[in-house]
Amino acid sequence: MNMKIILIFSHFILLEAKLQHVNVTGVLLCHSQRVMNIFIELWEYDRFDANDLLNTTRTNDQGEFQLTGGQNEFFSIEPYIEVWHECGTKAGCIRATKYHIPNSFIDKHYDTSLISLDTFTSDERNMCGADIPKKYRGLLTTKA
Ligand SMILES: *[C@@H]1O[C@H](CO)[C@@H](O)[C@H](O)[C@H]1NC(C)=O
Ligand SMILES: *[C@@H]1O[C@H](CO)[C@@H](O)[C@H](O)[C@H]1NC(C)=O
Repeated sequence: MNMKIILIFSHFILLEAKLQHVNVTGVLLCHSQRVMNIFIELWEYDRFDANDLLNTTRTNDQGEFQLTGGQNEFFSIEPYIEVWHECGTKAGCIRATKYHIPNSFIDKHYDTSLISLDTFTSDERNMCGADIPKKYRGLLTTKA
């Protein structure tokens, strides 16, 4: 290996070590009411590998949440939150709704303000009964 290659290689390692943080807050609403105890995950979309779970939380009794997480990535991270809830579903079903965190909010505070879970987005899943992954079945407050 000549010196030039070694220099390029070490530069690459320095870039790779860039830690990127997300800090996202908001209030979850269903039928215009604040909803408590809603489970939320903070994920990072990984184009080469399985997505990384960065953190989880639940809304407080005011429907508020705050999530922080960080990841070392060479490229800009693509974080999103996934909310597991029963707003607008049939009994025994659960919706997993994604909200992407814009790139411009990485390393800053992203206040989503009020999120109305009644709204259906193009980036969500509706699961019922056995289709709900085991780890999320305990979140259901209704039975099929
Ligand atoms: C997850 O969130 C908690 C509470 O905000 C924080 O203390 C902790 O550092 C976070 N974990 C990671 C891996 O960022
Ligand atoms: C997230 O941002 C809020 C609002 O600026 C701030 O109060 C809170 O301390 C921040 N949390 C972290 C872990 O940076």
